[in-house]
Amino acid sequence: MGAEKKAHISTLLPQARITLFTQDDTTRGTFESIADDWRFARVKMDAQDGDVNDAIRFYAEYESPDLIIVQTDNIDDHFPALLEDLATNCREGTAAIVIGPVNDVNLYRQLVGMGVSDYLVRPLDKEVFANDIAGTLLEKLGESGSRLIACVGAKGGVGVSSMAQAAATISAETLGQKTFLLDAAAGWSTLSVGMDFEPSTTMQEAVQAAVDEKQDSFSRMILEKTDKLSVLSSAGDPMLENDIDADGYETLLEQLMVTYPVVVVDLSACTPEIKKAVLARANSVLLVTTAALTSVRATRTLLQEVKRLRGDSDEDVRILLNMQGMAGKTEVPKAQIEEGLEKALTDVVPFEPSLFPQAEAQGALITHMKAAKNTLQKLENLVVDLIGDRTLKKESADKGADGKKPLLGAVLSGLKKN
Ligand SMILES: Nc1ncnc2c1ncn2[C@@H]1O[C@H](COP(=O)(O)OP(=O)(O)OP(=O)(O)O)[C@@H](O)[C@H]1O
Ligand SMILES: [Mg+2]
Repeated sequence: MGAEKKAHISTLLPQARITLFTQDDTTRGTFESIADDWRFARVKMDAQDGDVNDAIRFYAEYESPDLIIVQTDNIDDHFPALLEDLATNCREGTAAIVIGPVNDVNLYRQLVGMGVSDYLVRPLDKEVFANDIAGTLLEKLGESGSRLIACVGAKGGVGVSSMAQAAATISAETLGQKTFLLDAAAGWSTLSVGMDFEPSTTMQEAVQAAVDEKQDSFSRMILEKTDKLSVLSSAGDPMLENDIDADGYETLLEQLMVTYPVVVVDLSACTPEIKKAVLARANSVLLVTTAALTSVRATRTLLQEVKRLRGDSDEDVRILLNMQGMAGKTEVPKAQIEEGLEKALTDVVPFEPSLFPQAEAQGALITHMKAAKNTLQKLENLVVDLIGDRTLKKESADKGADGKKPLLGAVLSGLKKN
């Protein structure tokens, strides 16, 4: 019930199980529709036909989930005692939300005093309900910590893979985050060249290992490019077949997100199903365009679709204009692009033939390229923003561009020790 409106929670929830006990089809429908909310991608949601008495009986036999939600039509003096019985049958730490028929501040206070996380009144608003569950789970389990960043372009060849690789490298090497870079392009992937590795598997095999929960074989498919940056050591899937479904791909992502706090997905050259699945659930989206009219037009369309996928919000979508200057006078000017997209560009990366194509051809990390200094500085802010943790900026500000402490800093800290 919480008299005050709670702040919108915009984070991927940790793995959790929730069970709802209700006899009301509307509540059940609202609850089930929340499963499509990207924040709930790792939450198992189960609806049982029953009331608090059924819940008491059920948990006398089965292990309780992380959160139980019970709907009751009867809020009389006996109800708190029934909740006590329910608590006795549950694991310690199981959270509870009660849905009741009437607004009652005294009852709300009494239930919260008993440890109930919230008391809500039916009929439920989907957004409020989802946010309330999210808040309860975060309070109980803490943030999952893992951030999923989707990189996409409305047109081929605009530099999505280059920007995804740069973002992942900056996240790992400059910001010190344990990062996974996943190229969704299967047979069309260029990552083994860009990151210079000998592939040991195919995307198809990796997805299968994730689906079959073969942890050992899955781990062997991961290549640690550096201490902090890992990639899937895959290539060689057939180019003209599509053997990978979006569900399997999501299973693979989920496994990665248990281990890696930052997962960057390169969505260039993959199927629309995978694009859609990842764009819907990503914490943030990097949409790459060039200043060519064809690219700007396509970006406008894609932006609208991405917005719809993400609950009519482009709040966490950033647009990067890449290769500015490549096509000279035929390019659409920046101000006009922003007008057309009805959104500001977050960053502009110039056409730099001696940087990106060269890094790619040499299989070199962009953080190791001398010519990358200015671009790196610019992209660092963007990556901090995409990860959504502003404290990272401060940490990296204490370090040089290569992620090491500057010499003077090292000398001073050396002096302090003595
Ligand atoms: N800012 C830039 N300046 C110069 N060249 C660039 C820039 N960004 C990317 N490139 C180069 O452009 C080419 C296409 O880039 P990239 O492969 O990253 O695009 P993509 O959008 O992933 O393409 P695809 O649709 O084929 O997956 C590459 O050779 C890359 O090195
Ligand atoms: Mg690509």
